[in-house]
Amino acid sequence: MHSFRYQDGKLYCEGVDLERVAENYGTPLYVYSAGTVLDHYHRLDSALSDLDHLICYAVKANSNRAILKLLSEQGSGFDIVSGGELFRVLAAGGDPQLCTFAGVGKSQEEIEYALDQRVLSFNVESEAELAYIDRIARGKKTRAPIALRVNPDVDAGTHKYVSTGRSENKFGIALDRVASVYEQAARMPNILIRGVQMHIGSQITDAAPFAEAIEKVTPLILELKERYALEFFSVGGGIGIVYESSFASGRGDWWSEKDRVEATTTLPLTIHDYAAAILPPLRAIGLRVLLEPGRLLVGNAGVLLTRVRYLKQTEHKKFVIVDAGMNDLIRPALYQSYHEIVPVREPRGSSRELVDVVGPVCESGDFFAQDRELLAMKQGDLAAIMSAGAYGFVMASNYNSRPLPAEALVRGDRFSLIRQRQTMEDLVRGEC
Ligand code: LLP
Repeated sequence: MHSFRYQDGKLYCEGVDLERVAENYGTPLYVYSAGTVLDHYHRLDSALSDLDHLICYAVKANSNRAILKLLSEQGSGFDIVSGGELFRVLAAGGDPQLCTFAGVGKSQEEIEYALDQRVLSFNVESEAELAYIDRIARGKKTRAPIALRVNPDVDAGTHKYVSTGRSENKFGIALDRVASVYEQAARMPNILIRGVQMHIGSQITDAAPFAEAIEKVTPLILELKERYALEFFSVGGGIGIVYESSFASGRGDWWSEKDRVEATTTLPLTIHDYAAAILPPLRAIGLRVLLEPGRLLVGNAGVLLTRVRYLKQTEHKKFVIVDAGMNDLIRPALYQSYHEIVPVREPRGSSRELVDVVGPVCESGDFFAQDRELLAMKQGDLAAIMSAGAYGFVMASNYNSRPLPAEALVRGDRFSLIRQRQTMEDLVRGEC
């Protein structure tokens, strides 16, 4: 479900006309729907209500403090991967004791900071890291709470750059070695074993790999439960969302409200299917369950608004050159990801044309759509690149010395700026 739909000929986010938001804050501009984030959070939370669980939102998906604040007000925990993300959680009023700290390359400063803030757990990815955390905790005369990240060697059937649960990936510790690493951990005086963690990949659109991975690690967890005072099992994140709705696939009536609502309420993997697949094996394990969803909560909750700068017809192609570039949203360039592109003014005609939608960056990889049939757009038109709420702004860069875009949040019929557009001065700040 998301809250972007046409009303009176214009694209609205909840009760707000997106044209107004673009006029206020300029483009390129990320706009997020608070209602969609909250809806997804509560739907996941209630699907798991008969299980002792904690949602730890994966901050990397969208780390704007306004989004973190929304979630922390619901009681959400956070999955963080850097000291910077911990800092953001604290700045948003989040509880560090509900934070799990993941990542294969934590630094000394990050570990010390997380110990000072008393995070719930370090999700440890190697023996070397375990020994390092033990040493740092000793220096601070404390015990570091940990979970080892198990790599269950399951194929999540997703893009190779976002698959993490195969044995050839850099993540986690192989299933057949984890028990012996727990033994080492148990002997370390400054380590406190608290849980077990796994995460098999991202944008997974089938429930089977999740259930398979849980089933693969269940014997290990039951064995560990006998030996150590385990408090939780974290199943990671990875639930996929809809990027390509049926109405974008060439049907002339794609913009009707009915189609839009139907198309966007059907996730490829519904929260219900996900819960139905993971609940039975998790009940059998009998531990508190942690979940680390990122994309599911924020992906469909955001759009990137961009204005058409020029049209360019060449011998081979028609290019729609927009003011957003790959530096603002890198997913199409990096993962060949599909993002639907719709006009903000609801088109009255149905004249469609085959175009490439490209940005101003000096790279041929700077595109948002290639050879896509879209409704004709003209110079100055405003378009929305859909489902850009996850891994959008957070992956943006200053490449080509382009200032980072602004971000806005809509709640009901109100909207506000939650991050200012960078200025030219920001581009050179810190350089000497
Ligand atoms: N937990 C861990 C340990 C992770 O590594 C990740 C994502 C998550 C949770 C959250 O996964 P999600 O629920 O969002 O799928 N930039 C890529 C996605 C990278 C995902 C990295 N890890 C993209 O734009 O598709």
